[in-house]
Amino acid sequence: MTTDLDSVRAELIASVDAADSLDALEAARVAAVGKKGSVGALMKQLGALPAEERKDFGQSVNAVKQAVEAAIAARKETLESGALDARLAAERVDVTLPVRPESEGRIHPISQTIDEIVQIFGEMGFRVAEGPDLENDWRNFTALNIPEEHPARQEMDTFYLRADAEGNRPVLRTHTSPVQIRTMMNEAPPIRIIAPGRTYRSDHDATHSPMFHQVEGLVIDEAIHMGHLKGCLIEFCRTYFEVHDLPVRFRNSHFPFTEPSAEVDIGCTRDSGELKIGAGDDWLEILGSGMVHPKVIENCGLDPAKYQGFAFGMGIERIAMLKYGIPDLRTFYDSDLRWLKHYGFVPQDIPGALGGLHR
Ligand code: DAH
Repeated sequence: MTTDLDSVRAELIASVDAADSLDALEAARVAAVGKKGSVGALMKQLGALPAEERKDFGQSVNAVKQAVEAAIAARKETLESGALDARLAAERVDVTLPVRPESEGRIHPISQTIDEIVQIFGEMGFRVAEGPDLENDWRNFTALNIPEEHPARQEMDTFYLRADAEGNRPVLRTHTSPVQIRTMMNEAPPIRIIAPGRTYRSDHDATHSPMFHQVEGLVIDEAIHMGHLKGCLIEFCRTYFEVHDLPVRFRNSHFPFTEPSAEVDIGCTRDSGELKIGAGDDWLEILGSGMVHPKVIENCGLDPAKYQGFAFGMGIERIAMLKYGIPDLRTFYDSDLRWLKHYGFVPQDIPGALGGLHR
């Protein structure tokens, strides 16, 4: 008995071409040329044939097998490219859609300036410390070696709240310096902190606001000297104003909580009313500093014979106005969106001191 190989081939190829998925094709492949498939069954007939017919029959079955395998390969390719087309169609992206609009929100120049200051001192190993807006008289004045009769204590400058039962009047802190006291009371040296925050004084004009911001700096350790103060502050001024050869001058001054004390000026020029920061013939005061007074260290329970350090304080609005050319202090708090759109920063502009503060 011989089988009609042509019709077997036609049948098998038809079953391959009918496969409508890769899974169906695999099933057709197994049925045709798999171990127990049709082609295998044909091969088994070989043994029953007379010897002279075996060779021809074997060759013919092999030809069927090859034809079927070629059909499988072709069908596979067709199905795969069809699957890809389907996927491409399903995952299509409409590239004609408009890009997401740039966010409307802006970072306020005060926040941006604080971020810049934190970034610069952070690189030098300072940590951010904080204190509350409402302080007691002792931390805001007494512990800082500010005498009872000092003008800063006067009602005129300071916002006092109603006294408690013991007669203590809370005060809206007049500077960030009480954070020095809080830090020295709570931590053991070495101390290296900066403390940005809100401060309050009863004053209101183009250059004064009853609420404003300062940043305090404090370093306390066992071998700190004026050279450290100068090095840190020169580095800060040059990085902040992004003028690498900015002249920085330390001018003798007086604060009750430092001895010696120095005010820090930076170089500038004033050409027909226009201020330019950099080497020039004029100076601009930007901060107060000094070696922490031994009495302040002692007031915080530390031994001034063992520990010493430096401190500084500066107005954030002032250095923001200088760097970004903002002419009037009062506009910082007007909540005018047009002003914020003009002077504000896009949220992605995160200051980093490594590549310059802004990219
Ligand atoms: N507290 C001072 C003020 O508000 C600023 C200041 C000056 C802070 C010298 C300091 C300093 O830490 O050492 O005007």
